[in-house]
Amino acid sequence: MNIVHFSDPHIMAEGLLHGVIDTGKTFSAALKGLSESGKKVDLVVVSGDLANSGESEAYEKLYFTLENLVSALGCALLAVPGNHDNRKNFSAVFPGVQNGITGRMDQQLELGDWQFIGLDTLAEGHDYGEMTLSQAEWLENVLRNSTSRHSALVMHHPPIDSPTVGMSKIGFRNKDLLSSALAAGNVRFILAGHYHHFVFSDFCGAKVIVASSTAYQIDPMSPEDFLRGYQGIGFNFMTLTDEGNCHLSQVNKSYPLSSPVLDAPIAELGISIY
Ligand SMILES: [Fe+2]
Ligand SMILES: [Fe+2]
Repeated sequence: MNIVHFSDPHIMAEGLLHGVIDTGKTFSAALKGLSESGKKVDLVVVSGDLANSGESEAYEKLYFTLENLVSALGCALLAVPGNHDNRKNFSAVFPGVQNGITGRMDQQLELGDWQFIGLDTLAEGHDYGEMTLSQAEWLENVLRNSTSRHSALVMHHPPIDSPTVGMSKIGFRNKDLLSSALAAGNVRFILAGHYHHFVFSDFCGAKVIVASSTAYQIDPMSPEDFLRGYQGIGFNFMTLTDEGNCHLSQVNKSYPLSSPVLDAPIAELGISIY
């Protein structure tokens, strides 16, 4: 089971993010090379902040790109909202993401031995993330009644801190509620975003993997109470095993894209291989 985990594309209807970043171009640059790689992909995950300001046009642009990608790869798509998203505009463009029980964009998808649960942590008008009691009950119910061997949760706000104090202050605030819901089932991984830098951690027995952003990178070594960001693209490529384990690679690209310093068939490189 191969997953491409994108986060925080921050697509804009128009203009440049922080005055310099064309987030449509950075997302396209992230995709560049994916089909050429020949990798089989089963699922594309986008863990929130799809649009920077929640405009319908931004969702339409991104949905068009993602639809092309998943049809070319022949894979499934799971996208959840983040604090920059507009729930109404997002769900009007992305079909099948409204949840009649929780009223939020909570979703469940079964693929092989795995089930993927998308949890909507958008707290309208706030940068921090939250979940409601109704979402916790729904999640508990989904986990308790699951027939899948393993589960993975996808949410924008990670339930763990960032080394960047400023980002931790706008993290996920219902850790106790999530923790009690997770007790109902075997969640192996929590895939998240929001921090714009890679993190690997643990929450209630689940491995937490935070993907960076396809728009720009926040420096985890930012001075306390500062947020310092740089141009650059990051996303994750994961292989989940039938046993419930994971092999993870982080893909980093400079932006603007530079020419490769090495780009030749292995047979022509004169290296010894076993
Ligand atoms: Fe973001
Ligand atoms: Fe965010």
